[in-house]
Amino acid sequence: MAEPAASHMLDTVPPVLRDDIEEVLVDEARIQARLDELAAEIDRDYAGHDVLLIGVLKGAILLMADLTRRLTINSSIDFMAVSSYGSATSSSGTVRILKDLDAAIEGLHVLIVEDIVDSGLTLDYLMKNLRSRRPASLEVVALLTKPTRREVDIPVRYVGFEVPDVFVVGYGLDYAERYRSVRSIVTLKPEVYGG
Ligand code: IMP
Repeated sequence: MAEPAASHMLDTVPPVLRDDIEEVLVDEARIQARLDELAAEIDRDYAGHDVLLIGVLKGAILLMADLTRRLTINSSIDFMAVSSYGSATSSSGTVRILKDLDAAIEGLHVLIVEDIVDSGLTLDYLMKNLRSRRPASLEVVALLTKPTRREVDIPVRYVGFEVPDVFVVGYGLDYAERYRSVRSIVTLKPEVYGG
């Protein structure tokens, strides 16, 4: 049985969502501390270059905001939206572009900003698609990865945390469009999915 979430960690969770949370997997302080490290690494690796951060909507919005304001290198941002799971909790394997980039990326150093790499199918599709647009370089930063779920091998250069094979929400990640504003990565009680 999972431990109930420590109540102080949920102080900033909207009260209507608080009772749905089963466990805090990665709390806000750990996320923010890890982002300091990742930003420092990215600063070092891209020193002397501009970088274009491409956020994958909607899950990556908090990571995008927190990462971009930590970088000391010059960065610009753009977004893509691809088809998501809807309210299901596993991938259909089919990826569609719902919103494309605003501008060309040829010759640019591109860093894809993704919330979580699960099967890897979304990222596999995105990387092939973006590589065909001839960026100078193409790398990935993902807050979370679920290595045991991987169906395709994806080179994710910057990873925040590995999580087990459980459905997680918070810090941008949703279930049926809820819980994105929760500042920690959490799991939900089974009855939330059960209906
Ligand atoms: P993949 O194609 O299976 O790697 O799935 C990638 C996308 O599925 C992520 O960008 C998320 O939007 C969504 N996803 C995968 N696992 C989870 C989860 O545990 N919680 C919320 N969304 C998830």
